[in-house]
Amino acid sequence: MAPILRPLTLADLPALYALDQRCFPPGIAYSQREIRDAVRLAPFGFHLACLEGATLAAFILTLRRADRGHVITLDVAPEFRRRGIGQALLLAAESHYREAGAGGMRLEAAVDNQAALAFYARLGYRVVRTLPRYYSARLDGLLLHKDFAPAAIAPGPAATS
Ligand SMILES: CC(C)(COP(=O)(O)OP(=O)(O)OC[C@H]1O[C@@H](n2cnc3c(N)ncnc32)[C@H](O)[C@@H]1OP(=O)(O)O)[C@@H](O)C(=O)NCCC(=O)NCCS
Repeated sequence: MAPILRPLTLADLPALYALDQRCFPPGIAYSQREIRDAVRLAPFGFHLACLEGATLAAFILTLRRADRGHVITLDVAPEFRRRGIGQALLLAAESHYREAGAGGMRLEAAVDNQAALAFYARLGYRVVRTLPRYYSARLDGLLLHKDFAPAAIAPGPAATS
């Protein structure tokens, strides 16, 4: 059965919290209150759930900050990884913000989160700077950015007559 993407609702909160606890270690995983507050800000962002049957396989929470979309969290359950679900959710969020006129997307990831850093690099995100002791005042983070502006076209050879 193909996965289904749909908007999140407050009824999803227990499943969102449980999945976030599985995806991130203590100190990086969000509290129930943080997830609830982010879901409530849906009118200022873009959130999606991915369902495999009745199971919440993955979700993404994003908010608009200034002229950019910002990924609050992207969580794919371990048993559903490497199937393109994370990419599908992130690209849906990028499309939303691109169509809304945003200039790009940003997010933070821990310096030791090799899977996430490989995933975002593959999707065109670049490191802006290190965020010292960003997580629990212990672990450094990296600020990542993807610019929506089309790449400049290199000038071709001068025309000859
Ligand atoms: C990072 C994460 C969201 C990726 O989700 P996913 O659904 O497994 O990713 P996709 O299947 O869409 O992967 C797309 C591409 O990203 C890269 N990638 C994804 N996971 C990777 C890994 N563990 N190692 C290396 N590259 C990886 C690959 O190039 C992959 O393409 P491929 O499978 O054809 O090689 C998922 O591992 C996750 O939820 N991790 C825990 C939470 C987290 O760290 N979230 C991100 C920080 S907000």
